[in-house]
Amino acid sequence: AARAELGAGAPAATVAPSQSQASLTVLHGSQSGNGAKLARRLAELAQARGLPVTLASMADYKPARLRDERLLALIVSTHGEGEPPDSARELHEFLHGRKAPRLENLRYGVLALGDSSYEFYCQTGKDFDAVLEKLGAQRLAPRVDCDVDYDDAAAAWIDTLLGQVSAAAAPVASAAAPATTSGGSQHDKRHPYQAEVLENVNLNGRGADKETRHIELAVPGLSYQPGDALGVLPRNAPALVEALLRVLGLPATAPVKAGDTTLPLADALDRHYEITTLTRPFLAAYGALADSGKLAGVLAAGNEDALRAYLHGRQIIDVVQEFPVSGLTAEQFVGLLRRLPPRLYSLASSLAACPDEAHITVAAVRYQSLGVQRLGVASTWLADRVKPGDTAPVFVEHNDNFRLPASSDTPLIMIGPGTGVAPFRAFLQEREASGAGGRNWLFFGDRHFHTDFLYQTEWQAWHKSGLLTRLDVAFSRDQAQKVYVQQRLRERAAEVYAWLHDGAHVYVCGDATAMAVDVHAALRDIVAAEGKLDADAAEEYLRELSRSRRYQRDIY
Ligand code: 2AM
Repeated sequence: AARAELGAGAPAATVAPSQSQASLTVLHGSQSGNGAKLARRLAELAQARGLPVTLASMADYKPARLRDERLLALIVSTHGEGEPPDSARELHEFLHGRKAPRLENLRYGVLALGDSSYEFYCQTGKDFDAVLEKLGAQRLAPRVDCDVDYDDAAAAWIDTLLGQVSAAAAPVASAAAPATTSGGSQHDKRHPYQAEVLENVNLNGRGADKETRHIELAVPGLSYQPGDALGVLPRNAPALVEALLRVLGLPATAPVKAGDTTLPLADALDRHYEITTLTRPFLAAYGALADSGKLAGVLAAGNEDALRAYLHGRQIIDVVQEFPVSGLTAEQFVGLLRRLPPRLYSLASSLAACPDEAHITVAAVRYQSLGVQRLGVASTWLADRVKPGDTAPVFVEHNDNFRLPASSDTPLIMIGPGTGVAPFRAFLQEREASGAGGRNWLFFGDRHFHTDFLYQTEWQAWHKSGLLTRLDVAFSRDQAQKVYVQQRLRERAAEVYAWLHDGAHVYVCGDATAMAVDVHAALRDIVAAEGKLDADAAEEYLRELSRSRRYQRDIY
């Protein structure tokens, strides 16, 4: 597989590792673009110091090459129950398998990306760190585990690692190429683009038990590709901010630090801090302030089951209400909070079809827990409080792991139930605008045909025009027995396999925990039955598809 090298003019492609000059290999594996972005920054800074660098996605890296590496930096995220992202899976398996080599000559560093609201926080990074040590490699710098607001911790890790790498590698005399800023947009979560909201409509019909918003934003000057996501910087619900202030017994005007500025507490809780998700680090820090035997019991070491049970369905406000801390100051309280993270939504439009616009498809999250109505922060901000004419702070999050094939003739199989259908609207818009001739097959599913057929008229028009070669739908609640997209796939096994044989690319977008797992199993069974392979060989077939970028997933 081709390795992604740094931009033209950079020494990475030309300077070969030699006896005297160790070269640094930077590998990234993450479902979003965050890992790739940090890896690029590290590689550029290392190059600026005169170090030969190779930068690659773990997906493009042949694990057997590890034997020859001397300096290695890994940047990797974690998914679901401590799982590696798709692009890191093969390397992860290789290092934990029987064929893993001894790596006594290797020095390495691991940056783990994660979310501390999950039990298996940064697990994949921890795995890599531990297995490399076990194989005899030596750490250049301690692993750093980064929470959703990773910037500062990641910058510090990059700094430390570079210091160690420079000391380990003999400096080169030749002038180094200056660091390049490789094509990134100047807008990110710290410097968002203020997009005007053009449209905000409910895609579900009357009587639906779901609400899915179609939102159009004006983004002249922003650039993105189908497969990319839009990052949105939301605001917390005003009612929740008020309730929290009340429970805390703190004045809305109390000044607190938020980033580099000082804000009234109410404003900081409105848009700077996350005030919903209850994380283990928050609970531990709050528990140290609260004089409560019960909370201490929940937090006691080794009491993992009790802790998991306590966290379930609870949010920050529930803990503050149950265990008031007398004398708690506003500064102390915000010191326990994480910064409000942006939410990412797959882009549902193509700039080729909708110049200067970005469309997203957002399911409003509303549910009850412990008898209280809970609201998804970004989705209900977008659904309830963002109107046409308003501005929304956004940025583009590039995702090279979800891309249309290079050839316009390659057939596409797209599987996207619910809001997972969003990027396929972008794919088809792009293929229509560019006159791509390849066949396109969409599998869509949702609860009810009458109320939940998202973008129904658009798919049907494309089906009529011939752009959408095939459309298969699964409405799960229109009959006694549940029907899901994977059942439709299985019903069409022979044709699905024939498309694969013709070189089709398969895309899956949507729910990671149930849907993507079941769809994967259906694909494996189809390949096994139609290709006359046993389960292991069918699994290997899918792995090879994924390696060659013909099986790509955007799952959450
Ligand atoms: P359900 O809610 O009726 O169970 C979009 O959310 C659609 O995905 C819904 O029709 C939902 O069905 C369905 N869905 C739920 N679990 C799924 C799974 N494991 N695989 C595929 N689709 C699933």
